[in-house]
Amino acid sequence: MMKLAVIGSNMIDVISYTDIIPVAGETREVKDFAINCGGKGANQAIAAAKLGADVLMLTTIGDDVFGKMVLENFNAYQVDTKYVRTAKGSSNGIATILVDESSQNRILINKGANTYLTAVDVEAAATDLQQCALCILQLEIELNTVYAAIEFANKHQIPVLLNPAPAIADLDLDMACKCDFFVPNETELNIITGLPVESEAEIKKAALTLVDRGLKNVIVTMGSRGSLWVNKEHCEHVPAYAVQAVDTTGAGDAFIGCFAAVYVKTKDILQAIQQATLFAALSVTKTGTQGSYPTKQEFTLALDRFHFGSIF
Ligand code: RIB
Ligand code: NA
Repeated sequence: MMKLAVIGSNMIDVISYTDIIPVAGETREVKDFAINCGGKGANQAIAAAKLGADVLMLTTIGDDVFGKMVLENFNAYQVDTKYVRTAKGSSNGIATILVDESSQNRILINKGANTYLTAVDVEAAATDLQQCALCILQLEIELNTVYAAIEFANKHQIPVLLNPAPAIADLDLDMACKCDFFVPNETELNIITGLPVESEAEIKKAALTLVDRGLKNVIVTMGSRGSLWVNKEHCEHVPAYAVQAVDTTGAGDAFIGCFAAVYVKTKDILQAIQQATLFAALSVTKTGTQGSYPTKQEFTLALDRFHFGSIF
């Protein structure tokens, strides 16, 4: 089986469901609350693992009760945790999340142990990484580690998917050019290009500037507007599915995990985007991130319903 590598973050998500954002000095009560395993890297790894992909995770967990929770969670989903390392004396990464009635989220992260994942960890996993068909990265770990991982993957001809989230304005685009897939959402596209992204035409224009800059495949996830794939030869808009959204947190991660799982199996980019768009749509119909991602059985049924041939 083709293995996927995720070199990235894990977090514990502390989620409040509320329409009220308190002002300074105010105490308010929320409607509902949950503590779940999250983090962009972990979410992407688990989305792919739920679809039966063989996933190798490189991440650093806290030397605390949350770190233990994260490790158990990876094991429960059969993610390979050989390179999940406890950063001695550190606290696990934590995301404080507010989800409002319109299912939108606001997230504050403390990277915690994630800052201790370094190029040394990447080198330590060299033999196993070289067996991987795709290496997935995000920006919730130190930027130097992300760049070192891209260089490592290039040296060993491992294709790379970079999810520039959370976005930074001064991302090194030469590094992005070394990646096979660059997958921002529209907000991240705006921060990276400095261009407007209100309309679909603007999003397309901004994505095309990145292709002109030398990026290979730019895939923009646009929530209820679906997704857009551009490269030198293609410009494809994949429409979204009309669903009853309750929590959009981690939908982008769902997209990436599913895209990767389908892509390594089929090498068909468009098919991977179409299936990932459906997978992400289904994820927003349930609260939380990883727990809301469809299982392989659920997704196979959904693919059938929408007249896709299942590859799982
Ligand atoms: O992308 C969603 C994730 O972002 C959440 O799970 C939270 O941990 C933050 O990192
Ligand atoms: Na969800």
